[in-house]
Amino acid sequence: MQPEQAKKEAKKISDWIIDIRRELHKHPELMYEEVKTSELVRRELDNLGIQYQSPIAKTGVLASIGNGNGPCVALRADMDALPIHEETDVPFRSEIDGKMHACGHDCHTAMLLGAAKILKSKETEFNGTIKFFFQPAEEGGAGGKLMREEGALENPTVERIFGLHVWPQMPTGQIGSREGTFLAATTFLDLTVKGVGGHAAVPHLTKDPVLTSAQIITNLQSIISRELDPLDSGVVSISAIQGGQAANVIPPEVKLLGTLRSLTMDGLKKLQKRVKQIAENIAEAHGCEAIVKYPGNDYPPTVNDGEMWDFAKKVGSDMLGEENVSDLDAVMGGEDFAYYTEKVKGCFVVLGMQNEKIDAVYSVHHPMFKADEDALHIGTALHTMFALRSLEELGA
Ligand code: NI
Repeated sequence: MQPEQAKKEAKKISDWIIDIRRELHKHPELMYEEVKTSELVRRELDNLGIQYQSPIAKTGVLASIGNGNGPCVALRADMDALPIHEETDVPFRSEIDGKMHACGHDCHTAMLLGAAKILKSKETEFNGTIKFFFQPAEEGGAGGKLMREEGALENPTVERIFGLHVWPQMPTGQIGSREGTFLAATTFLDLTVKGVGGHAAVPHLTKDPVLTSAQIITNLQSIISRELDPLDSGVVSISAIQGGQAANVIPPEVKLLGTLRSLTMDGLKKLQKRVKQIAENIAEAHGCEAIVKYPGNDYPPTVNDGEMWDFAKKVGSDMLGEENVSDLDAVMGGEDFAYYTEKVKGCFVVLGMQNEKIDAVYSVHHPMFKADEDALHIGTALHTMFALRSLEELGA
């Protein structure tokens, strides 16, 4: 099959893909709670006569097609939603207060099911195995790591893996990525400043965690500006301050939440070390105590294999035109697709979804985020071609 034909085939089932996407969009589920999502995926796989392993990684589904001989290629979608209250006016908006598919993982799942549908219909025409990863918990839960640990990349051994992510910064009909590090290594910061609370009229009888927190926040900003090589990239963001309730009471503690990012794991470890040192020492200087934690999983950077990006670029150019495929700069967002490309050659590609006509202009993780559904069949066609061409190349 040629890219142009894959696009036509995907376009033919576009309504089916969109219906699935909307059903998922109405019922967003957070990490490791993707019970209904997983059920829907299994229902569609059953309808298509595709075999799968489930559960894997708690709520994931690992489907595969092919003749079991020859090479093996994997395509990946993530399934989890975010704890964000949807503010769009789409008729299929989230029916669950405080939860939303604001990162487009509903689109990813629907696009991958579309690819499974097309590829299943061509099963006799290729030699090899295609695995479909429907993974849970991308948003901080490292579902990709769990999929890997539970053997998704083995039996048969995956030789190449591809993932797509919707990208509202780029118009529909375009794709992009880059060779090497594309997305950052990330960690979450949970910092508690403990002091001694009391009446705000007698500050000398307290150890003020509010003032101490302010000093810590300000001083942490010197890590990037004064300690990092100006040619390196890093982020230290404090994004939540929780503490105190009354105007005349100094609280006993303040909690700070944030995130640290770097383009290398080594860089991330250095940031973690320095944040801890600075917070603890400033707290001590003010008679308080800082408890620094990095909860959950530190995501590694997402590193694309150069050859795989060249390959994806060729597929994209053949399908969409060379002018619609871009080499992008690295971004400081994180992705647990990184856990796969630590072990297997792969490429993470972003799929343009921006469409001003329908107000699809907001970034992912925004309560107004909208996906341009006209891009979904393109994602399906790309997945399809990534798999078929890879099997051809690997089997040759
Ligand atoms: Ni995402």
